[in-house]
Amino acid sequence: MTAPLRVAVFGSTGSIGQQTLEVARRHPDRLRVTALAAGRRAQHLVEQVLAFEPEVVAISGPEAAQTVREQLRGRCRVVSGPDAAEELAGDAVADTHVHAITGIAGLRPMLRALRCGKSVAFATKEPLVAAGDLVMAAARDSGSRLAPIDSEISALWQCLAGAPPERVKRLLLTASGGPFRTWPARRIADATVAEALAHPTWEMGAKITVDSASMMNKGLELIEASRFFGIATERIDVILHPQSVVHSMVEFEDGAILAQLGSPDMRLPIQYALLGPDRPPNEFERVNWAAIAALTFEQVDVARFPCVRLAYEAARVGGTATTALNAANEVANHVFREGRLPFGAIAATVEHVLHDHCAVPADSLETVESADRQARAAAEEFIQRAS
Ligand SMILES: NC(=O)c1ccc[n+]([C@@H]2O[C@H](COP(=O)([O-])OP(=O)(O)OC[C@H]3O[C@@H](n4cnc5c(N)ncnc54)[C@H](OP(=O)(O)O)[C@@H]3O)[C@@H](O)[C@H]2O)c1
Repeated sequence: MTAPLRVAVFGSTGSIGQQTLEVARRHPDRLRVTALAAGRRAQHLVEQVLAFEPEVVAISGPEAAQTVREQLRGRCRVVSGPDAAEELAGDAVADTHVHAITGIAGLRPMLRALRCGKSVAFATKEPLVAAGDLVMAAARDSGSRLAPIDSEISALWQCLAGAPPERVKRLLLTASGGPFRTWPARRIADATVAEALAHPTWEMGAKITVDSASMMNKGLELIEASRFFGIATERIDVILHPQSVVHSMVEFEDGAILAQLGSPDMRLPIQYALLGPDRPPNEFERVNWAAIAALTFEQVDVARFPCVRLAYEAARVGGTATTALNAANEVANHVFREGRLPFGAIAATVEHVLHDHCAVPADSLETVESADRQARAAAEEFIQRAS
């Protein structure tokens, strides 16, 4: 019998992190959790330590770190401070790192893990959008395995099964369309935070749920897919599929189309990223064919969902344009969730910042972080002027 895979989970207290731990709990003979990293949710982290007994945890929030230390009383090593996750990525005793820290905050830990030769299963999409060349180069240089968790990217990965990019006609990225798929533009523009957080098919963290409502999530994914598979965004189409059963498709040069289907349950792509190509049994939700009347597909209306158009545009420009797109969106998404920005102004903010940005090659961490800072400042200024 082989020893269990040692797993470090970055963003363990979030939606993907918790589901990763559930996958680990269901496969105790195959997966052992050795390290956890979180931001502020101290109580969640303490409970996870008691349940999984990792060797080390990282927590970035100072108050949370104090709580964790007090409650754990030396039960495991605690790394703390703003760079705690990055530090842990460099020294965690783990074979595979699951990266599920939302936003650009996940970039440094992911890069550090790849540069240290760790195998990385990534849910976090923002690092590939903001710094795709750096991430892919780090994996190439160290020979690290990169496995996608995002359900659409995982679906494409499973359908491609290592096929060379020149045999691919196009990637067909499916999108649920979020809660506003059928809404008229004026109603979308004034949508409330509660309405944006009511996703029809997926339960996820707040940032990605709002990104799904604006469809920026699909914009980020098409850039993520382009970077990860080395296929230009001109060969990636977004198709609305409200049932979220077909997770994405690949059309090959010979006209064949392969699709991956399953319930909208992130535990399946998480399990596949960790244990694939093996497909051990589990008790996750199955597709209930009797309950599905039809699988339907529609075109995206980019006039109502301009974030998709902006993502294609940023990808076409390349370099730090996608860094700026991501940064502006992170700011606008956050300010919207605080109730200080109308929903319709998210796309307007991103458009303003993107069109003002002078893109340069995103060839170093310094360049990416500087572009990220500038775009954030520009987004905040735009929002302040508009309010
Ligand atoms: N949820 C999904 O179904 C799904 C599907 C596909 C892709 N993704 C992607 O996966 C990523 C995570 O999504 P999510 O929905 O799981 O988000 P989430 O529920 O908001 O969780 C985010 C996690 O990141 C942690 N975190 C934030 N800043 C940190 C920092 N500086 N250092 C260490 N940890 C930090 C948070 O810790 P605290 O909570 O303790 O502050 C939390 O554990 C996103 O990039 C998202 O786009 C998610």
